[in-house]
Amino acid sequence: MIPDIIDIRNASKHYDTDSGFVHALGETTARIGEGAFVSIVGPSGCGKTTLLKMIGGLIPASNGEILIRGTPVTSPRADVGFVFQNSVLLPWKTTRENVLLPIVVRKKLSAQDIDRADELLDLVGLGSFGDRYPHELSGGMQQRASICRALIQDPACLLMDEPFGALDSLTRENMNVFFNGLWLSTGKTVVMVTHSIQEAVFMSTRVIVMSERPGRIVDDVAIPFEAQRSPDIMGSAAFGATAARIRHYFTKANLD
Ligand SMILES: Nc1ncnc2c1ncn2[C@@H]1O[C@H](COP(=O)(O)OP(=O)(O)O)[C@@H](O)[C@H]1O
Ligand SMILES: [Mg+2]
Repeated sequence: MIPDIIDIRNASKHYDTDSGFVHALGETTARIGEGAFVSIVGPSGCGKTTLLKMIGGLIPASNGEILIRGTPVTSPRADVGFVFQNSVLLPWKTTRENVLLPIVVRKKLSAQDIDRADELLDLVGLGSFGDRYPHELSGGMQQRASICRALIQDPACLLMDEPFGALDSLTRENMNVFFNGLWLSTGKTVVMVTHSIQEAVFMSTRVIVMSERPGRIVDDVAIPFEAQRSPDIMGSAAFGATAARIRHYFTKANLD
């Protein structure tokens, strides 16, 4: 049995703002095993980002609770890394300095930290870009640098919110394949929100499908491929059938 790393127990969220009450996320229960790659797909505004922020301790649940490795999440933790859609690298800092930011805000840098940043940059093919500034990197390279920043504290778990959404489709496909290798070599547990059913099926071990807001889990799909993925699988019947099962929830008839 693979132990659960993330345990979401009847967690829900409403926002109570000046402009009114928003029931953002319905009651949600899910357990995610160590080393899994779980994608979350669902209509716009159904509470995906809200759920990810709750798992990461950026916002509290309104009801229910979320545990990571058996401890309730109450604030951001060093063993959870975040990657957002628009990588927010600081333009006045070098790539290496950007990767080291999560460390710098906590403590004085050691030579070991700098070596670790360079190792990570090597791992994502940016070994010779440590001294370059973000504007000298392409979109895909900036996103790889953000992934390094999320990995610098060696988190057990990586939360990614539409991490490849801003990339052109070819770069995106390359990043999907590249990230599959990175996930395999690092053994991290990944939870990724994506709008792309193809990306979800290609990269994940499991895809959680959510309903319209307030989002609830309507399906939980095991992906029937080996952990190492090659673009070839996209043409297979199993890939098509799995994608169709998920797409079914988003056809107009099923939303009406
Ligand atoms: N800080 C907030 N205050 C008020 N409403 C919010 C806030 N954040 C998100 N919402 C609302 O909650 C719902 C879910 O948002 P979100 O989790 O961002 O959805 P998704 O990521 O699935 O598109 C949306 O209706 C959104 O407008
Ligand atoms: Mg979102």
